[in-house]
Amino acid sequence: MGTVVLGTGSCLPKKVLTNVELESMVDTSAEWIQTRTGIETRRIGGKGEKTYQLATKAAEKALAAAGVSAEELDLVVVGTISSHMLMPSSACYVQKELGATNAFAFDLNAACSGFLYGLDLADKYIRANHDMKVLVIGAETLSGRLNWQDRNTCILFGDGAGAAVCGYSDSDRGVIGSSMHSDGSLWKLLYMHAPESSNPDLIVKGNNGAYIQMEGREVFKHAVRAMEDAVTRLLVKENIDKESISLVIPHQANMRILAKLVDRLDFPQSKVFINVSKYGNTSAASIPIALDEANSSGLITQGDTILFCSFGGGFTWGATLIKW
Ligand code: UT7
Repeated sequence: MGTVVLGTGSCLPKKVLTNVELESMVDTSAEWIQTRTGIETRRIGGKGEKTYQLATKAAEKALAAAGVSAEELDLVVVGTISSHMLMPSSACYVQKELGATNAFAFDLNAACSGFLYGLDLADKYIRANHDMKVLVIGAETLSGRLNWQDRNTCILFGDGAGAAVCGYSDSDRGVIGSSMHSDGSLWKLLYMHAPESSNPDLIVKGNNGAYIQMEGREVFKHAVRAMEDAVTRLLVKENIDKESISLVIPHQANMRILAKLVDRLDFPQSKVFINVSKYGNTSAASIPIALDEANSSGLITQGDTILFCSFGGGFTWGATLIKW
């Protein structure tokens, strides 16, 4: 009995950027990117593909799959760190575009963990009020928040959106539990400045642009340890055997991070959904895009136990278990 996903959807920009194309943009090689990250291509937003526009298209598909109308929604949450405006939120744009006139809407800034934090929030709202329908979206156009001269970051990220419509079921299905965490003390390892302040007293020293900046090697180590810890705690808390998990859908950051994580957790590779080679790291959008791909390709059956885990800037990380 609990919060179930009634329908999923996703939307990827049309433009594909390959590793070979990146060779002529920054000092890198297709071979380096492929072997160090597992990424082969990523999508880059163009005209009509702002964060809220990708989010709206993903949401329309999720609503259609769920058989839920926009007017039935009570809440729209968008996990994002790349809205085209600081105010209003992307969620308010999505609410307007969908005509979700009965929903309140806000964005959630948890970087790559935005979708899982949003799902957790939806679960808490829905448990408190079984009539609620919550639309949870992860959407990003980080292509506009990258320094395209910085080879440490610009080769990693991509744009896209994924969405899930959540509601209540009185069957034995639903969110089993979650394990959510943050550590703000490590922010300097992965961050993005805001636009420069117009108040001279509040100008941030070292603000060299609203771009992603990262100590990749450090982030790598923290990501593996943190996700392993969140998953292990959650399985213990919920008394779930690894063997009973049907599919793991992790945040798609880097093939090597995923390989290490899967190895440490001792999950069979065949149970882990990976699409990072096609889209790179789409931050908050990565889990819902992967979920929609897994769902629409028939990899998920009712009653399956699905495990999600994420890690991102903040640091933010977590894991969620759901009986589909
Ligand atoms: O959602 C969480 C967000 N962030 C992440 O998931 C990122 C986590 N970190 C990583 O995925 C990896 O650390 C990277 C893919 C970013 C880097 O891989 P690495 O194996 O940790 O490489 P490194 O940073 O230790 O750099 C090794 C070498 C360096 O050269 P030297 O000092 O050995 O001569 C880098 O300058 O590779 C160089 N390098 C590159 N070379 C070609 C760094 N980026 C590139 C590049 N192309 N794009």
